[in-house]
Amino acid sequence: MSLSLHAASPSRGESRNPLFTPLRLPCGAVLENRIVKSAMSDCLADGTGHPTDAQAALYRTWSQGGAAVSIIGEVQGDARFPEAAGNLVLDGDSDLNRFARLAREGISGGGQLWIQLGHAGALTDPAIGTPKGPSALDLPGLSSAALTAGEIAALPALFARTARLAQLAGFGGVQLHAAHGFLLSQFLSPLFNRREDAYGGPIEARMQIVLEIVDEVRAAVGPAFPVAIKINATDRLDGGLTETDALKFVAALERSSIDLIEISGGTYFPGAPATPEHRRSGAYFASFARSARSMTAKPLLLTGGIKTMEQAERIVSEGIADGVGLARAFAITPEVTDLWRRGEATAPAFPRFTSPPEGGVTAWYTMRLAEIGEERDLLSGADLDRVIAACTDRDRRKAEIWRNHFDRD
Ligand SMILES: Cc1cc2nc3c(=O)[nH]c(=O)nc-3n(C[C@H](O)[C@H](O)[C@H](O)COP(=O)(O)O)c2cc1C
Repeated sequence: MSLSLHAASPSRGESRNPLFTPLRLPCGAVLENRIVKSAMSDCLADGTGHPTDAQAALYRTWSQGGAAVSIIGEVQGDARFPEAAGNLVLDGDSDLNRFARLAREGISGGGQLWIQLGHAGALTDPAIGTPKGPSALDLPGLSSAALTAGEIAALPALFARTARLAQLAGFGGVQLHAAHGFLLSQFLSPLFNRREDAYGGPIEARMQIVLEIVDEVRAAVGPAFPVAIKINATDRLDGGLTETDALKFVAALERSSIDLIEISGGTYFPGAPATPEHRRSGAYFASFARSARSMTAKPLLLTGGIKTMEQAERIVSEGIADGVGLARAFAITPEVTDLWRRGEATAPAFPRFTSPPEGGVTAWYTMRLAEIGEERDLLSGADLDRVIAACTDRDRRKAEIWRNHFDRD
């Protein structure tokens, strides 16, 4: 790992700040600080699942900003189940040289670049894939077939292949995506998982496939390569994954070869009312992280709602988690880590949206990532309706490329 940009003597912000101490993972890899750029689906791949110059620029920018690790969101191992047409697809047909270039660019300023192993399952974009999750669902806005027993049995090898390809391409680690309602999170959630076989029912059965995947991914990449997982503390939905069950999952992960557990939460499921939030501001899942701490000695990363350096510092200094994951803060201020290291601008200026249209805030952040990667202004002066329209239009064009490339009209 390059230390070139960050090897200067500690400045005032850094000297006593626990955020700027290294973290050693069980596999032996060392993170140079405690701040991780959480996975964000950047929708900047080229429509054939390959990296673009915009992605190289985006991850180079984050690398130069001092994050210990940046995680690329939603990298698909199976092109039939994407979350969006701008997802990367890393499978046997991928041009590994193009991924290797992204892997190099994304660490050119320091830090590590990991990929998140995705599979959208029932939330596969129906314009370009075939939604299939643990159980068949037919609800307004969510229609999905059920995976067969044979298809479930094939999942560990699928995830393991992409993890191994990521390692060969030069990425520094992988993260299993088991949060926010995508396939592995669907298996964990009773809302999505109504199976009556060995993979459905009590949490011990619902987590089974995830643990099998962890084992096979580990076998594919060897003992010294970081394998992380992102989980929901809770789905925050009536009838969804509860904190009690999520803690049982954490206890099982403690016995696995996982290197880092990122705790976040929240899922969308049509018709399921949200459960009341315990906290309206601050780190959303801090109390869960405290409980998880008592179940596992694995390094924990806490993500969601962290907006200032003071909040992040307290999470690490009080031992609530070993590090923090930030997403929106990195979209707004890519150099947030270095600013905090210097004790400057410790609270990124989050935009405020009054009565945003549905999907507007996500579209804004997605286009903000494009703005950084493409180094051009896409947002100033545009209202959210226009931002949504631009985002939708871009995705429609990529979907067309996707369909032509993957031949699934
Ligand atoms: C534009 C956008 C895209 C996201 N894409 C992903 C993703 O691909 N994978 C994932 O695990 N989480 C994704 N997230 C969720 C973030 O990683 C994070 O859990 C969430 O935004 C809360 O953290 P924050 O309060 O620091 O933003 C995304 C968030 C945003 C804003």
